[in-house]
Amino acid sequence: MNEILSVAVAGCGYWGPNLIRNFSSLPDCRVKQMCDVDEGRLAHMKKLYTSTATTTKFEDLLNDEELDAIVVATPVHLHHELAKKSLLAGKHTFLEKPMASSSAECAELVALAAKNNLTLMVGHTFIYSTPVRKIKEIVDSGEIGEVQYISSRRLNLGLFQKDINVTWDLAPHDISIILYLIGRPPVSINCQGKAHVDKKIEDVTNMSLNFDNGGFAIIHSSWLDPNKVREMIIVGSKKMIVYNDNEPLEKIKIYDKRVEAPPHYDTYAEFHYSYHYGDAHIPYLKQVEPLKVETQHFLDCIRNGKKPETSGLDGLRVVQILEAASRSLKIDGAKVEIDLDLGKKSAFA
Ligand SMILES: NC(=O)c1ccc[n+]([C@@H]2O[C@H](COP(=O)([O-])OP(=O)(O)OC[C@H]3O[C@@H](n4cnc5c(N)ncnc54)[C@H](O)[C@@H]3O)[C@@H](O)[C@H]2O)c1
Repeated sequence: MNEILSVAVAGCGYWGPNLIRNFSSLPDCRVKQMCDVDEGRLAHMKKLYTSTATTTKFEDLLNDEELDAIVVATPVHLHHELAKKSLLAGKHTFLEKPMASSSAECAELVALAAKNNLTLMVGHTFIYSTPVRKIKEIVDSGEIGEVQYISSRRLNLGLFQKDINVTWDLAPHDISIILYLIGRPPVSINCQGKAHVDKKIEDVTNMSLNFDNGGFAIIHSSWLDPNKVREMIIVGSKKMIVYNDNEPLEKIKIYDKRVEAPPHYDTYAEFHYSYHYGDAHIPYLKQVEPLKVETQHFLDCIRNGKKPETSGLDGLRVVQILEAASRSLKIDGAKVEIDLDLGKKSAFA
């Protein structure tokens, strides 16, 4: 394999340029082609990356024998079609989140990548961020005790999407972080929501993920909120973590707070909860752009044949949860059971 890997990025809208900037900054990578059906976007990108070729035809990427990998950052309804062509052309493939429009599409891509021995990675960016990795370290160390519940809010005014609702747009981040932290799949999902602006596409949703040990997580997603909120609270039996991604430096605060019930009591008069109020601690976090770590990880996985930390299978699991949320939305939030292990079996069948 070449020392310098050649990559092409398809989709130069809002997010694609961030991927192009990060891949271009890596010493072991060359962004050889940029592809978009919109010539205006390509003309803009050409001004920034003068030596990179541009094309409106995705087929030009497939036919380029020097290309090692294709990165897909188009609208979600095109992910499966473009990634399938990329894998069939023998290219390692990076797909933005959510991986595809259905779990069947995801499973097909996972199987195709495995069959052809190609790296398939999904852009669950937050898994590569310093605060999320630090929270994982704290949770795994046992410092906060047993995780009792997680509450996540990802709110903003927009950006309204045309092909997916707000759950499919924003919640993949929360779901991927929660699965990473908890390390087990949920067994059922409830999701309620409303479509206000475009009457067919929900712009506010509230989902809960229920786990087999009784734990649960709540995800509130909104494109209709005056404030940009990116907050996750992890409540443990001993301590609680507040993660505010909008904070420039102090993104994580660990609160030494908990509530304890008396071990036994005979009369109501004897019963008192004990509230513990201790110090709050702010761990130091190194400032690194998550996308830089993510793009380097993709190249390293191609080189070493390693499974990405956010593999196709992880993308499939997130999409299975999104599908269950869509089913629950249709029945006004009633519980939908899921078995994510089924996805694992079907992906490798
Ligand atoms: N990881 C993250 O944090 C993150 C953040 C934002 C968006 N995203 C994801 O990135 C993807 C793109 O989102 P966006 O907000 O940039 O969308 P966008 O609509 O701004 O950009 C998509 C681009 O794809 C182009 N396109 C459409 N069809 C194409 C084709 N056949 N070939 C090549 N280009 C084509 C469009 O012209 C457009 O320029 C989505 O999957 C989204 O969920 C990820």
